[in-house]
Amino acid sequence: MATVLVTGGAGYIGSHACKALAGAGHKPVAYDNLSRGHAQAVRWGPLEEGDILDQARLEAVLARHRPDAVMHFAALAYVAESVADPAIYYRNNAQGVLSLLEAMRAKGVDRLVFSSSCATYGAPSTTPIREDAPQAPINPYGASKLMGERMIADYVAAYGLRAVAMRYFNAAGADPDGEIGEAHDPETHLIPLLLDAAATGGRFTIFGDDYPTADGSCVRDYVHVADLAHAHVLACERLDALADLTAYNLGAGQGASNFEVLDAVRRRTGCAIEADVGPRRPGDPAVLTADPTRAMRELGWTPRLSTLDDIIDTAWRWRKQSAPAAATSG
Ligand code: UFG
Repeated sequence: MATVLVTGGAGYIGSHACKALAGAGHKPVAYDNLSRGHAQAVRWGPLEEGDILDQARLEAVLARHRPDAVMHFAALAYVAESVADPAIYYRNNAQGVLSLLEAMRAKGVDRLVFSSSCATYGAPSTTPIREDAPQAPINPYGASKLMGERMIADYVAAYGLRAVAMRYFNAAGADPDGEIGEAHDPETHLIPLLLDAAATGGRFTIFGDDYPTADGSCVRDYVHVADLAHAHVLACERLDALADLTAYNLGAGQGASNFEVLDAVRRRTGCAIEADVGPRRPGDPAVLTADPTRAMRELGWTPRLSTLDDIIDTAWRWRKQSAPAAATSG
């Protein structure tokens, strides 16, 4: 049994990681400033309130709980916001990594699982994407995550840190037991917005239908948040076998277009969703799909819930119970 400090443990992916850690017999300690996370999502261990930029507070929490490893999720994650206000992305996501790395070094904690992103690849020339594809981010969010990876790689080389970078594709879905789910404010992601439209009868806009894809809409690789969480536990347990910073692409390995996701949400919810097509959203690459072979081979990871049907069903169940009035009106 390991104690694991989970920064961003009150957030969407971090809270699912806490549940997965507890399920595997480990002890998660959530560290979160609750600016975008939710205290009620911290259910599997203590919550330590604090900011990722507060190195002294981080050191105090590390000294108190003496974790065997850290999972670092605490970050901002809206692409459009990162374009409008890059300063807060470089501060929280890049400087935040440095603050954490220095706190870990000061307290002798030398194992790290880093939440990175397929956004570090930018607009790749070939898909599915392997981990050795060029990393050329096209927005400050992706750039801030790449900066984090680079700092961590240098700490691995110089100070003997053991670390993995988990590059997620499109995290989606909710805890199959219905205990936690996705609750962003504002919400900008495709599937929760479609579920909102299904629940409330609101209209939905597809951003662009003139991409070079089969139906003209963007294609993404949706991976269930519980599968992501499980991959983090497997990576944490494998850290000691890794010499260099190792990256893992976490996706289902297949893409779904925005029109396909719209159809699937209509089918699974039984709600008619009125949709129109609007202009492209700036910064959206046409296709992002993962080659998850390395994670499957080296971590023994198998995505079990990463089908559109399971993703939509778990997210819909969560939405109905967390906002029942809205959800039953659709
Ligand atoms: N979309 C619409 N209409 C909407 C919202 C989204 O058509 O109202 C489209 C987007 O244009 C995109 C697709 O749905 O084509 C998926 O968009 P999301 O916002 O759900 O997710 P992204 O693909 O933008 O996700 C990206 C990166 C992730 C990163 C994430 C951070 O792929 O690596 O942004 O929020 F983590």
